[in-house]
Amino acid sequence: MTDGAELLPLARELALEAGELIERMRDGVDLAGETKSSVADVVTDADRAADQLIVDGVLRHRPDEAILGEEGSGRDGSTGIRWIIDPIDGTTNYVYDIGAYSVSIAVEIDGELVAGVVNEPRGERCYTAVAGGGAEKNGHPITVSQVDDLAVSLVATGFGYLPERRAGQAEVLTTVLPRIRDIRRFGSAALDLCLVAEGVVDAYYEKGLNPWDLAAGTVIAREAGATVGNLRGGPPDADLTLAANPRLFDTLGDLLRSVEADRRP
Ligand code: IPD
Ligand code: CA
Ligand code: CA
Repeated sequence: MTDGAELLPLARELALEAGELIERMRDGVDLAGETKSSVADVVTDADRAADQLIVDGVLRHRPDEAILGEEGSGRDGSTGIRWIIDPIDGTTNYVYDIGAYSVSIAVEIDGELVAGVVNEPRGERCYTAVAGGGAEKNGHPITVSQVDDLAVSLVATGFGYLPERRAGQAEVLTTVLPRIRDIRRFGSAALDLCLVAEGVVDAYYEKGLNPWDLAAGTVIAREAGATVGNLRGGPPDADLTLAANPRLFDTLGDLLRSVEADRRP
């Protein structure tokens, strides 16, 4: 039976190849490039080329499997296995030549996340996990922080592309920021989840994520010991993704629920 351990090597190989490709293409990037959902939502030729490379690689090796990709490369499969791809997570950073962007690839079997890889090519950091097998950074095990006091916790977050969503996210921040040590906005949801996984930040939350933003990082964070979910006892979703070391998850969850962070536009 196919499992995460069998699927991870291909995911990792494709994430590394895509990482090399986007690094090669970086110099030609146009700041005034094309946009998608709003003027803030940039897409580049590198997003599309990396998407193509990954999709071609999956189809070459595993032609019957489903694909869900940010750049529209979706297809159905017949095996219960689905590849979830964000060819560049953090495109704004990529365009502005800030190194915090990543290639994110996750694999699901029958709706369960079984493997994930998040490759940050600029920093040469590659995070991987297989369900039940722990999480690693460049082949070394990683684990979440032990901080249990929200007042001294470092919390990452992110903002969507739509103006009305951003206004709500800014309001939520006015409640969160006075109660924590500090906030970070790195600009790649996949990397935010990996930073929780390795204990660099204690928690991360964001409203409005898509499956390709959160899938690989979620397996990695969970396998490193993080609790990852929404605010209502379910898995992480577009309403809210909260990832934290287990000592902080409920406290930060209560705070976010108190301002209905997941029930705003
Ligand atoms: C975005 C990044 C960002 C997050 C946004 C995402 P993209 O993905 O992950 O950190 O705040 O919500 O849409 O557009 O760069 O792939
Ligand atoms: Ca993304
Ligand atoms: Ca993207």
